[in-house]
Amino acid sequence: MIKSLKRFVSAENPDKGAKRTKEELLESIKSAPLPEHVAIITDGNGRWAKKRGLPRTAGHAQGMKRVRETIRAADALGIKVLTFYSFSTENWKRPQDEVEYLMKLPIEFLKTDLNELIERNVKVQMLGEKSKTPSATQQALLAFEEKTKDNTGLILNFAINYGSRDEILQAVHRIIDDVQNGHIDKEQVNEQLMSQYLLTKGLPDPDLVIRTSGEIRVSNFLLWQLAYSELLFTDVLWPDFTDEIFYEAIEDFQRRSRRFGAV
Ligand code: FPP
Repeated sequence: MIKSLKRFVSAENPDKGAKRTKEELLESIKSAPLPEHVAIITDGNGRWAKKRGLPRTAGHAQGMKRVRETIRAADALGIKVLTFYSFSTENWKRPQDEVEYLMKLPIEFLKTDLNELIERNVKVQMLGEKSKTPSATQQALLAFEEKTKDNTGLILNFAINYGSRDEILQAVHRIIDDVQNGHIDKEQVNEQLMSQYLLTKGLPDPDLVIRTSGEIRVSNFLLWQLAYSELLFTDVLWPDFTDEIFYEAIEDFQRRSRRFGAV
């Protein structure tokens, strides 16, 4: 039952009672199993800026800070995989100056955050077609991957120029090729094999998918992978999404009982 869109829309959203400190919240989270993979649709940057009479790019700049804060929080908790939906294949339709700004963010982020990510042993990976991004952006994305490829800590995925239907279609094409050229038999094509042809090959499916800003849809994001994910929608705009709200989202996930179709 949907009780409220104010903070979280989930199956269970009991009254929180007295406000807890961040430390108490963390204590509570650490006493229950964590989601292995958290994926986030970071939405609402434009509206955040508009509310303040600022250009949309100011919302993206603040959103970038929340990305950093969330990476730190996920890493500190010991979450294994964190995925951000940063730029969809549809986002190219935005005004040119906004697209240019968004394409500069990875270049900026490389300068400001690469060292910290290396120190944290974070492995950065990109989901999506890098070759369609401007060359300086592509170089930054490749540099992230190259310089962190041997790291063994948090796996941090940025979905950039990503679309899930296209990802699935490309997987299907490659499976057909491999059946036709005799590398695999048709009988071997099952869910496990399909997962190995997707960009998330080798990663666990998201346990928890969060979307900010009150939109209640998945917008062509990880459609195959989120078959059994817990979905959490909040009306908090991404630039307002603090580490404390991230912890509350994890706690909300921990309260749900996951049955994978069984009883
Ligand atoms: C959606 O808000 C946000 C985006 C399209 C961009 C998100 C990007 C980041 C948070 C930074 C990513 C960082 C790296 C390093 C790749 P919106 O503009 O759709 O907001 P609106 O719905 O309110 O208009």
